[in-house]
Amino acid sequence: MDYKFFAPCPDQLTELVAAEVTAIGGTNVHTAYCVVYFDACEEVAYKAHLHLRLVSRLCRILKEIPAQSPRIIFDKARRIRYDNLFSSDLPISINVASGNAGGKIETHLIGSKLREAINDCFEHHKNVKPNQSSYKAPIGINGYFNKNRLLVSIDTSNESLHRRGYREEGHPAPIKESLAAACLAVCQYDGTIPFYDPMCGSGTIVIEAAQIAINRAPLIHRQKGGFGFEYLHDFNPEVWQSVRAQAKAGEHALKTTIHASDIEPDFIKIAQKTAANADLESEIQFSVKDFFKTEKPAENGLLIINIPYGVRMDEKPVDGEYLVEIGEYFKNHYQGWRCAMLAPTDLPIKMIRLKHQKKVQFLNGTVPVTLVVYDIF
Ligand SMILES: C[S@@+](CC[C@H](N)C(=O)[O-])C[C@H]1O[C@@H](n2cnc3c(N)ncnc32)[C@H](O)[C@@H]1O
Repeated sequence: MDYKFFAPCPDQLTELVAAEVTAIGGTNVHTAYCVVYFDACEEVAYKAHLHLRLVSRLCRILKEIPAQSPRIIFDKARRIRYDNLFSSDLPISINVASGNAGGKIETHLIGSKLREAINDCFEHHKNVKPNQSSYKAPIGINGYFNKNRLLVSIDTSNESLHRRGYREEGHPAPIKESLAAACLAVCQYDGTIPFYDPMCGSGTIVIEAAQIAINRAPLIHRQKGGFGFEYLHDFNPEVWQSVRAQAKAGEHALKTTIHASDIEPDFIKIAQKTAANADLESEIQFSVKDFFKTEKPAENGLLIINIPYGVRMDEKPVDGEYLVEIGEYFKNHYQGWRCAMLAPTDLPIKMIRLKHQKKVQFLNGTVPVTLVVYDIF
């Protein structure tokens, strides 16, 4: 039997996420605003949790119900057989969001109707009251309310999928792993050409690049019990183990070179520890260097820099003049390379004075940032 899933994601990424989903065997893949829908058999569902690089959550659709009033929501939602899905002793968190054409019912009221419906289902079918706690809940029930319809789903990821588990504390401005992967996907990085991050900070972008280059599944190191689907009655450990074994067997040796540097020796130490946590220390060549003194490590390749946001006392200010210098440096030292820059959107990015191939906006936490991609001839 196929499950129906959706993956929320930034709207600019829906096509790239759809391509990732198709590549692992998802069917009936289609996109809407900030979401990708797909169908998956058991094996493909597990592959999605292990292999997708760009999404933070995967939600399995349980039912879409009419939602004209709180009473109707309760009445329809209580018919979903939660007792066939998970055990009554597990903590459950309930999250409700509404779309632009949400409707007149407050999301917190919808949430309490969903909680009542779950209670009613367990009491009616199993004669037990389910766990009322939501603390560290492995079961996440989501409601998405739009146009008087409520899409009820279960979050099968549990901990956000952007948390690969390799992060080392200590850098003031690391980006999310899924944002780093998104930058690489926008640049069409497939792991076959040299990669360089000369402002690597804690190393997030270069580690994501190295994972792509050796075909490592990004969530392969997640501990047992870390995914939401492992808590469901229909969890199939044999199929899951086989999907994990296939992923491990699919890894291969690096076929290119991967480089990372930063001006701060302490950040390079953090990046090296992070790479060791990700079991990638021998794949990445680290060094301490000022970007404005670097040379291209090969004739062609991909360079991505995530420029500093703030200004340290001893540094050049990050302003239009700084961008002019970056543009000049790309032009004079990186011919033959694709160079991309992730920078705060409010900077005068045009000052870089290069013709861009692509420009995509993201949120880095709450800060709007733009990835601009240049091919340097
Ligand atoms: C926004 S952070 C990068 C964060 C990184 N993407 C991560 O996920 O950890 C910018 C980095 O650029 C480095 N940096 C600033 N000026 C530099 C320069 N001239 N050469 C090399 N690195 C520089 C800073 O030390 C800082 O680690």
